Amino acid sequence: MKNFISVNDVDDINELIEQALRFKANPSVLKTAGAGKRVGLLFLNPSLRTRISTQVAASNLGMEAIVFNVDKEGWALEFTEAAIMNGTTVEHIKDAAPVLGQYFDILCVRTFPALQNREDDYAELVINQFIKYAGIPIISLESATLHPLQSLADIITIKEASLGITKPKIVLSWAPHVKALPQAVANSFAQWINAWGNAEFIITHPKGYELDNNFTKNATVILDQDEALLNADFVYVKNWSAYNDYGKIISTDLNWMLNNKKLSVTNNAKVMHCLPVRRNVELSDEILNGLNSLVTKQAGNRVWAAQAVLAEILKTK
Ligand code: CP
Repeated sequence: MKNFISVNDVDDINELIEQALRFKANPSVLKTAGAGKRVGLLFLNPSLRTRISTQVAASNLGMEAIVFNVDKEGWALEFTEAAIMNGTTVEHIKDAAPVLGQYFDILCVRTFPALQNREDDYAELVINQFIKYAGIPIISLESATLHPLQSLADIITIKEASLGITKPKIVLSWAPHVKALPQAVANSFAQWINAWGNAEFIITHPKGYELDNNFTKNATVILDQDEALLNADFVYVKNWSAYNDYGKIISTDLNWMLNNKKLSVTNNAKVMHCLPVRRNVELSDEILNGLNSLVTKQAGNRVWAAQAVLAEILKTK
């Protein structure tokens, strides 16, 4: 694996899942694989899980991880081609990325979309320029449109929790939120579930929240949430802002928030969310505090997802 930006960088999803589960069973099994190697974790946006799980994963492989909060501690980066830099940006990515390439063996980057201009965000300008100019493997810690480490952890969690179910019914359900959020988690989850192919996949959302078909492909979309939830084995709850009326909040209808009554029509479904979650807006206390919630296990699996990906990229170093 050269870079890890989307599921398209993965040769064999099932083998990557198995590798992650081997690391979960024995975190130190490859404790010297990264000896003498250094990974940079660059954050242009906040994080709790991604930052710490990737640091733990690197440590399990014997790698040194250095975190750099570019948004708070770095020079303001410029990404525009032929920019006349007489404004607020101080350093062009064309200059900064090759320097980082000298310091690290692998570079991990988190960046969010601006949600102002769909074309710009979906061109993945930031992560693509790190790939172009750093000269070392790049791992996405969430980009403008995708969150692949999250999706890998999500599928690991589904695999662990679906013992005895050969083809689980998985429902990705939109949830209300007070802020306009990226589509990245939902896009990425759809892309990975489609590529994995071991599920009946349904997406439910209010009208106007259609996702990019490049990621959802042949997923069934059902606008009636109660109908979508019937006999579900897993419900993945997530808010996203509109893709078509780009970045807009079209609905804040709290009737879309999952609670035990809604869950009662499912096959005792397990409930997932990538976190952070707004309690009693996106998801009810009764679900998050209840036995069906997988959110903590899901976040725990971020370590094994990151370790599997780092180990795969280390093979090429
Ligand atoms: N799920 C996730 O990516 O969490 P953080 O934003 O805290 O890293």
